[in-house]
Amino acid sequence: MRVLAKETKSYSGKSVTMQGWLHKKRMLGGLTFINVRDRSGLMQVVIQDKKEGEKLRGMQIGTVLEVVGTVKLEERAPAGAELHDPTITVLVPVTDEPPIEIDKPLLHKSENLDTLFDNRAIGLRNLQEQDIFKVKSAVCESIRGYCKENEFTEIHTPKLLAEATEGGAEVFSLDYFGKTAVLAQSAQFYKQIMVGVFERVLEIGSTYRAEPSATTRHLTEFLTVDCEMGYITFEELQNFVGGMLIRVSEDTFKTHESAYKKWNVPKADLPTKAQDIPRITIDEIHEMYFKQTKEDYRGEDDLRPDEERFICEWAKKNKNSEAVFVLGWSAKSKTFKFYHKANEQNPDIADRADLLFRGVEIATLSMRQHEYPILIAQLKAMGGDPNHPGYASYLSAFKYGMPPHGGFGLGLERLVEKLFKLNNIKEATLFPRDINRLTP
Ligand code: 4AD
Ligand code: MG
Repeated sequence: MRVLAKETKSYSGKSVTMQGWLHKKRMLGGLTFINVRDRSGLMQVVIQDKKEGEKLRGMQIGTVLEVVGTVKLEERAPAGAELHDPTITVLVPVTDEPPIEIDKPLLHKSENLDTLFDNRAIGLRNLQEQDIFKVKSAVCESIRGYCKENEFTEIHTPKLLAEATEGGAEVFSLDYFGKTAVLAQSAQFYKQIMVGVFERVLEIGSTYRAEPSATTRHLTEFLTVDCEMGYITFEELQNFVGGMLIRVSEDTFKTHESAYKKWNVPKADLPTKAQDIPRITIDEIHEMYFKQTKEDYRGEDDLRPDEERFICEWAKKNKNSEAVFVLGWSAKSKTFKFYHKANEQNPDIADRADLLFRGVEIATLSMRQHEYPILIAQLKAMGGDPNHPGYASYLSAFKYGMPPHGGFGLGLERLVEKLFKLNNIKEATLFPRDINRLTP
């Protein structure tokens, strides 16, 4: 029976069989020490017998091994135990040296990133790299748990579409049997349609944007956590997404504290209740930023990346929160999409917010225009054709009864990037896609 590295401690004095990859090999005073990696971590094996050591001659990192040995407790070893007097079988020999050293932390400086991504297939075997993606998996689990408790249904919507969901230039078009199809820029239309079915829906799905520039916050393919809820108010929507962030931070720190410790990142400063996440308007932020820096973006309808960093630092210092809701988005500018809803008391302002976390926008949330005639008018005003097949079915959901509703898209990679305080979204992506990269 195969025993995992993490389990060996409970077999003290007994003989066990383990299988894994050769992760590290060193000679010390006539002994050979190897680390064997399996899904649970590393196991240190001490080889005294020359004949056994000989089996590893010329074997490189990555060689797949079976080791039968006696468990000896050893606090200083990674698994809290070592294997002694091993018998080694080489299951898959590797004789080529790997292109990247994986037994120590890989460099993440901006000038090293291309090397990091070019060698991803092997580099991800590094335990510290694995931490990021284990936490990413735990983030999804936490989100699913939170949504389940709130009676969401998880859905999966198509990514090949007939019409752009978010409009603009950032849409990939492709030949679809002689017609033009586009790749989904968000699950927007389908998740709204599904409110008419389930009231509350969640999708964690691939999203495509033809982002023309190489930045530290944009990918061309990324994952969005899309939620949509019927019969809610804007205030409830804000608290729901704020609560999700708080929950994810709590959950993943509980389950993956050692991963965060290895990366030397503290738990995020967040209020315990989403109601206490600071809310600031875009105009207030422009004003504060101007006072501080004399750089004047007052009157602009969006925030600059520097302003996002500035306001998050301000909130951390003054409100003990590394998250901020930005409100007060204009309903009269390009940032207002046809599916958005203007505030009923103040129609110049959209019922929309951005959630910023550690200096970057992680989510955009808004109430949707649910009244059919107004939605049609808003679509037409922005140059859309209600009879286009890409809109027709979406609009029919409204014709046949949609309640007041709202939702958000939250960028999974940006969230994970910021949980680990990384500098580039690509570091939180297994195989990043950007303007220059389609491989590996
Ligand atoms: O802000 P966005 O564009 O909003 C929407 O897609 C709406 N349909 C959401 C809604 O339901 N109102 O995208 C949502 C989030 C952003 O806040 C950001 O975190 C992430 O998706 N995002 C990107 N992540 C990586 N690369 C890109 N190019 C991204 N564009 C947006
Ligand atoms: Mg946005």
